[in-house]
Amino acid sequence: MNIILMGPPGAGKGTQASRLVNEYGLTQISTGDLFRKAINEQNQYGVIAKYFIQFGHLVPDDFTIQMVRDYLKDNTFENGFILDGFPRTIVQARELESIAKEFKFNIDAIVNLDIPQAKLIKRLSGRRTCKDCGSTFHVEFNPPKQEDICDKCGGELYQRSDESEEAVQVRLETYNRQTKPLIDYYTMKGTIININGDQPMEDVFKDIEKALEDK
Ligand code: AP5
Ligand code: MG
Repeated sequence: MNIILMGPPGAGKGTQASRLVNEYGLTQISTGDLFRKAINEQNQYGVIAKYFIQFGHLVPDDFTIQMVRDYLKDNTFENGFILDGFPRTIVQARELESIAKEFKFNIDAIVNLDIPQAKLIKRLSGRRTCKDCGSTFHVEFNPPKQEDICDKCGGELYQRSDESEEAVQVRLETYNRQTKPLIDYYTMKGTIININGDQPMEDVFKDIEKALEDK
């Protein structure tokens, strides 16, 4: 099964994606994670991405699409994949449709996590991410057993560079302007599944599972 997971910054895309990975053996393809890896490796995508990400802007479509295309071409997905945070513009959505035709795969479900904007700031400012394995925690909603230490691998927890107040504000505005129109785009095609993301993580996951089973 191949899934698109959509939602504003901090909606819980990464949190739910890792549950879907554990439950169904899907591969998570997070464009944000791929860009952060590229930035650490200082490769061709990283140099460009760093500039846009630190200020909360989207990385230009052509780079993003090329990166996703390469990833889909170079990897096999035994049980399918979750696109976490891609597409984020109408241009990316259209390109994904032609990549799917070319590589002969289907998108089986488009899941949109719906949550009021006011809740997102708290989620983002409390998030802690593991430097080593990428697991995410929240100081209030999902605290690690030991402060600033990852429960899973013992790695150090950090706050992402795009979690400053200014960058978060720009990310939310960018989402409203460039990504939210995708909800209408997929609604018109009749393919979107809206999930209430404003509930405990377990309940969000149960709703996603149920919606996928009903398909
Ligand atoms: P990306 O890394 O994808 O960031 P984002 O979309 O802003 O989303 P986040 O990862 O911040 O949030 P999330 O929805 O994964 O939430 P999480 O599960 O962590 O992208 C970063 C940047 O890369 C972009 O700004 C852009 O510059 C660039 N980029 C990426 N893709 C691109 C594209 N396609 N095109 C162009 N540029 C692109 O949860 C957040 C916190 O809340 C955590 O602490 C978690 O523990 C907690 N939490 C989760 N669920 C719940 C719940 N139900 N209740 C309480 N707390 C919860
Ligand atoms: Mg994420």
